[in-house]
Amino acid sequence: MIPYKHDQETDFSKEENRKAYREAIEQVRKEFGKEYPLLIDGEEVHTERKLSSRNPANKEEVVGKVSMADKELAERAIQSAWKHFDTWRKWPAKSRAEILFKAAAIFRRRRHEFSAAMTVEAGKNYVEADADTAEAIDFLEYYGRQMIELDKGKPVLSRPDEHNEYFYQPMGVGFIIPPWNFPFAIMCGTTVAALVTGNTVLLKPSEKAPVISAKFVEVLREAGLPDGVLQFIPGDPKEIGDYIVDHPKIRFINFTGSRATGIRIFERAAKVQKGQKWLKRVVAEMGGKDTIIVDKDADVELAAQSIVSSAFGFSGQKCSACSRAVIHQDLYDQVLQRSVELTKELKVGDPAEYGTFVGPVIDDIQFNRIKEYLEIGKQEGKLMTGGEADDSKGYFIQPTIVADVDPEARIMQEEIFGPFVAFTKAKDFEELLEIANNTEYGLTGAIISRNREHLDRARRDFHVGNLYLNRGCTGSIVGYQPFGGFNMSGTDAKAGGPDYLLNFMEAKTVSEWF
Ligand code: NAD
Ligand code: ALA
Repeated sequence: MIPYKHDQETDFSKEENRKAYREAIEQVRKEFGKEYPLLIDGEEVHTERKLSSRNPANKEEVVGKVSMADKELAERAIQSAWKHFDTWRKWPAKSRAEILFKAAAIFRRRRHEFSAAMTVEAGKNYVEADADTAEAIDFLEYYGRQMIELDKGKPVLSRPDEHNEYFYQPMGVGFIIPPWNFPFAIMCGTTVAALVTGNTVLLKPSEKAPVISAKFVEVLREAGLPDGVLQFIPGDPKEIGDYIVDHPKIRFINFTGSRATGIRIFERAAKVQKGQKWLKRVVAEMGGKDTIIVDKDADVELAAQSIVSSAFGFSGQKCSACSRAVIHQDLYDQVLQRSVELTKELKVGDPAEYGTFVGPVIDDIQFNRIKEYLEIGKQEGKLMTGGEADDSKGYFIQPTIVADVDPEARIMQEEIFGPFVAFTKAKDFEELLEIANNTEYGLTGAIISRNREHLDRARRDFHVGNLYLNRGCTGSIVGYQPFGGFNMSGTDAKAGGPDYLLNFMEAKTVSEWF
């Protein structure tokens, strides 16, 4: 087998690639309004009630309609997943991995179609959507290979007349709960990690981006995933979320999303229910309030480029997005001014048009929330650019910079999840680091510096799960920068890393006397 290498992103400077992408968008548009079923025990289930998925750049457009599970269907899904666990867990690891490799091959062939689906369903521009698809393919290729390795177990010592073994086995039925903002990559990665390790799962996609998940499920089936191994159960999380999380037959939960939902799930899953035979394992990857530090002697252009691309890529709707720029007083004015210039150059608009950098935010709820933060920001600091919002057609927010903000201000502490970055200044390196660490979160961070001692101190003392030196703080790559955060950013599961699959397995020791 060829060694893992991350998938190359598409070069959109070539007209042929832009043309292929435009055609894929047209193709996806032809499917607007299509209905997608649930999948339970290998059976497609159509329900009366449907989630209506809309284009955030044009809210009149219905991208697709997806059937919705209720509690009864969720119960059937749990029963089905257990029914098929006993067969699936005995499949050779290599055969399970082959399904992932085949799915990756199909996605490579239909790459633009999946990216284009994210452009219209989630508002991702060409580059962001293409990167999302590339990451999904990477998860399939990486976890498939990881599983083949893990299946060998790990060495332990033996003694004369005593043979010891240490190996990993699947756990049971898992509940997979992804967010909408990496609607393909995270949804795919969190699902296939649990599957390739031999578990059976219920996948409840985000109600804000269910169509891309439905298309993903179709491909897994085409790649040979047996019936009943994956139950696809979109629905209203308020209706079925607690029911499944609380269920005594759920063995583990793999959640990525907001801090509030993560805490709710973590607390509920901790309660042992009547008839429950285990402690549920919970992976909860949550929000961020991510900082870029700019040191005294930093390269101003690199600093401004890193802040602007990390703050406004995908309209700031990344857990890894830079929402705080903490800058040494000697460079503060220069970095701020250059960041404002660069921000004013960004094209805001429909992501289906090539060249758009800042697309819409996902829906009216997020739009209204961010609008409130724009007002708070105007009170807490000095508005340098942006500050405007328009939802006449889609949910558009101008990329916004607010300067001279107190480190304790709300816009420096609360996750906004939109195109919004707050700037503050510090007198020396100690203060830069102190401000960077004064949040409840600890997901990503970056430092722009030429000072080796400061870079080393940041390596040790900047308390984030993913720290980047002299670059922006978004864009981790599977197998290269395992991803996960500290503190209220979650359980630090490190998606795309060498230890991730262990979250969905239990280790067994077998010792035989001869
Ligand atoms: P969210 O918490 O609103 O929803 C996440 C998922 O949880 C969705 O599928 C939703 O349907 C489901 N859900 C909601 N209530 C539930 C309940 N009671 N029981 C079970 N499931 C429930 O988050 P979101 O808006 O989809 O995503 C944005 C958030 O995710 C941001 O905070 C972002 O920082 C975070 N995020 C974190 C990472 C990471 O790796 N740390 C990656 C991406 C996004
Ligand atoms: N893994 C994604 C990033 O690093 C969230 O931007």
